[in-house]
Amino acid sequence: MAGLARVTPAITALRRYFGTPTPRTVFGVRFPSAIGLAAGMDKDGAALRAWPAFGFGFVEVGTVTRLPQPGNPRPRLYRLPASEAIVNRMGFNNAGAEALAERLARLGQLPVPLGISIGKSKRTPMEDAVADYLESLRLLDRYADYVAVNVSSPNTPGLRGLQDRAELDQLLGALRKETDKPLLVKIAPDLDENAIADVLAVADQHRIDGLIATNTTVGRDGVHPRDTVLAEHTGGLSGTPLSARAREVVAFVAKETDGRLPIIGVGGIGSVDDALRMLDAGASLLQLFTGFIYHGPGLVRALNRTIALRA
Ligand SMILES: Cc1cc2nc3c(=O)[nH]c(=O)nc-3n(C[C@H](O)[C@H](O)[C@H](O)COP(=O)(O)O)c2cc1C
Repeated sequence: MAGLARVTPAITALRRYFGTPTPRTVFGVRFPSAIGLAAGMDKDGAALRAWPAFGFGFVEVGTVTRLPQPGNPRPRLYRLPASEAIVNRMGFNNAGAEALAERLARLGQLPVPLGISIGKSKRTPMEDAVADYLESLRLLDRYADYVAVNVSSPNTPGLRGLQDRAELDQLLGALRKETDKPLLVKIAPDLDENAIADVLAVADQHRIDGLIATNTTVGRDGVHPRDTVLAEHTGGLSGTPLSARAREVVAFVAKETDGRLPIIGVGGIGSVDDALRMLDAGASLLQLFTGFIYHGPGLVRALNRTIALRA
């Protein structure tokens, strides 16, 4: 505790530098700024005190699963530098929902809203997926400002099938009954318009509070020729090559829902221009992963300042 007291002034100073406030209330939660850290960077909530110091106005921890699991064997992450992209097949390496719950109980109140992303344990058979998600939700929902239902990682066999209408209906029905917290669904950029429209219909039926668009893609469009060989690795592609498609999905969701369903826009935001275009497409909040890897907290600062000027 004494240690934390010593670093707190530093965190506050850094936060002032990187985190120009752009406050907004979305699905009933007050966000100090529109720029959040995307899921997967801090799967186990190991650095939750640090992220606000880099200017993030919210953090999505996870994806965690009911059962602790090691993820896929290494190597499982490749940088594609000429494309400002990453291919990853981490496979939900995490210490499990119980471990995260214990850590969050110890940590106490954070200065920014916390999203908790839940996914299916690899060992759990698909037919028991709903129970697996439900148990994670029960352990974690008290600590969450919102819960993200991850049905879109390409690295857990069968997971993306949960985006199909009948499966999603069962899953969201069960989760909605369990929690009054804002419940968001994270979708893949590889769904076609009909499949996205199905997701929206099910989301509406179960009073889902928002969409997170998008996860990584199994496609390889837009990769720089110098990265062609690296791009052959199995896994989800993120970063600049994903930018146009992620924005297109956000725009489609905004149009289909008349702008009524809040959207967290994520995918290939690596510059101020990318961020503004994602907001213009209809996103209320933004998240970064790959852009933060390539540009660091300077990008978060630039985005916060630009959005503050525009507000
Ligand atoms: C190494 C890595 C791990 C990721 N892990 C997760 C995860 O556990 N859960 C999730 O919902 N998304 C995960 N993602 C996807 C990101 O949250 C984000 O949706 C995607 O990378 C697109 O954004 P970006 O182009 O800014 O990286 C991961 C991405 C990367 C690169």
